[in-house]
Amino acid sequence: MLRLAVLVSGGGTNLQAIMDAIDAGKITNAQIVSVISNNKGAYALERARKYGAEALLLSPKDYETREAFHEALLQALLERDIDLVVLAGYLVVVPPNVIASFENRIINIHPSLIPSFCGTGCYGLHVHEKALEKGVKVSGATVHFVDEGTDTGPIILQKAVEVLQDDTPEVLQRRIMEQAEWIILPKAIDLIANGKVRVDKKKVWIDQ
Ligand code: GRF
Repeated sequence: MLRLAVLVSGGGTNLQAIMDAIDAGKITNAQIVSVISNNKGAYALERARKYGAEALLLSPKDYETREAFHEALLQALLERDIDLVVLAGYLVVVPPNVIASFENRIINIHPSLIPSFCGTGCYGLHVHEKALEKGVKVSGATVHFVDEGTDTGPIILQKAVEVLQDDTPEVLQRRIMEQAEWIILPKAIDLIANGKVRVDKKKVWIDQ
């Protein structure tokens, strides 16, 4: 059983998609051990409680230094024997000590087709604003491993979504969640949990 920690900052619809996929048997060999948030008011924590998973608040604000927060986060993951860290709308930069200890064991969902509309400052609605400014006809979502860079790690899965002429950032965001994020994030977890994902020379290979 792959032991998951899901890190969240907001509403947690991606977390919900993971919980639903586990319940429906679409993700096998994985369990959510802990849901960790930096944000006390995150509705994702409420979703975790309703589901019966641990809802853990770990906020940088509660630590005297950033380093102390980084250490606390790493310890929380190690104490729980976490195998895979899932960033599902986590707005804190993952600290270097965690990245070093969890090489190719942290995944993130990003709401565009990387390498478009990603990198520092490109998160949340900004991603969709940029896509609409550029006038792309197709956007989508990407699940990737997390490395030291911002949205630079090996790509695991991507799914394209049509952009419509009169889209607003909010409308496009919702369509990308429904048609891509909530599908490929659970799918990537299932593939990893069943030993089907390999990383070689910074590229991901999926065994069929
Ligand atoms: C999603 O759009 C995800 O791609 C991005 O943050 C958002 C999180 O939404 N990284 P939710 O909290 O899962 O509803």
